[in-house]
Amino acid sequence: MNKYIFIDDKLGNRLSQNLYRRLKTVRPLSGVEMEVDGRRMLNFCSNDYLGLSRHPLLEERAIEYLQKYGSGSTASRLVCGNYDCFEMVEKRIAELTESERALILNSGFQANVSLLPALADRDTLILSDRLNHNSIIQGSLLSRCRIKRFRHNDMNHLEELLRENRDSGVSRILVVTESVFSMDGDLSDIDTLVRLNEKYDSLLIVDEAHGTGVLGKKGMGLTCGKNVDMVMGTMGKACGSFGAYIACSANMREYLINFCYGLIYSTALPPSVIGSMDAALELIATMDKERHDLFRKAAFFRSSLNELGYDTGKSTTQIIPVIIGDERNALGLSKWLEDNDILTMTFRYPTVAPGESRIRLSLSALHTQEHLERVVDLFKRWREKGCNEK
Ligand SMILES: Cc1ncc(COP(=O)(O)O)c(C=O)c1O
Repeated sequence: MNKYIFIDDKLGNRLSQNLYRRLKTVRPLSGVEMEVDGRRMLNFCSNDYLGLSRHPLLEERAIEYLQKYGSGSTASRLVCGNYDCFEMVEKRIAELTESERALILNSGFQANVSLLPALADRDTLILSDRLNHNSIIQGSLLSRCRIKRFRHNDMNHLEELLRENRDSGVSRILVVTESVFSMDGDLSDIDTLVRLNEKYDSLLIVDEAHGTGVLGKKGMGLTCGKNVDMVMGTMGKACGSFGAYIACSANMREYLINFCYGLIYSTALPPSVIGSMDAALELIATMDKERHDLFRKAAFFRSSLNELGYDTGKSTTQIIPVIIGDERNALGLSKWLEDNDILTMTFRYPTVAPGESRIRLSLSALHTQEHLERVVDLFKRWREKGCNEK
């Protein structure tokens, strides 16, 4: 028996179904330009929505913290890694998100996979939006409790499940959703979620990975100032840095420090990252103009693509899926864009449902009108070449 045979079998399946994934080596140049295999390309797949990843203030403060505290935090925050800079940045996050307290975690993935198991016991029920990110799915599975999915953004379905289950012997109900859905760019209805949460006494957790920096008051997400039990925000996307936070009550923060294993059993983030987080938060609060421009560009992009007959789903944000359907057609379109120096990402099963392959275009405040028009023209020419969608 060949103990490695599963590797070839599974990779072979992926290859035959056009679902094989490969790493691409890239090098950031200036603005939204990337060097890929020696070629200069325009990047339309990064989550650096505000263009902060190369901002001098983030770089400066990362260096400042690196020089002040060293290159690593040397241990978990509960051991001796809890440098004062963590608490300073958490204070800033709590103020900006209008929460009592905040707790920094190492990444959004790590937050989701350790937060949900910390909150659940065997009698807990998790109600999760059907389109939630894989990190929420993995966190739910690790919780080893019952999980029910509600239809995407369907608040009537969620209420039905809350009503049916609240008196069914559950210890508690966790409702988990995203504010901006990562593959579709549509928004959840935070006010209704809050209302249902209050009515049925559940715990509401909202993942703001794609909302932080981009939406809401001072860019702190759709949940900012709203009665949400736990908000998970990430710093690696619009904030141009890395890491994540949970904004919550003071009591919940104490609970997580005691029960959230992703915090307890992992080395704290390096101080340089805390420095760039701090600078990003300072800048983001002042970037209403950039946010406004980003949304204007996204509206232009969507309407231009729709006029050409492309399906951009329910997107209303900086994330614009162009839903193609068939894997091979989606890959063909992505290759056409790449041949013309536009870097995009094709998302296929299992990231999205089978037959719902899509090019996910993500916009940055640094894209110019000329950049957008170049891409729209390529989509137009692809259509004229008679290539199929859906
Ligand atoms: C909705 C959502 N949640 C969580 C994550 C994970 O965040 P991070 O990249 O900080 O690990 C992502 C990243 O893709 C995401 O899209």
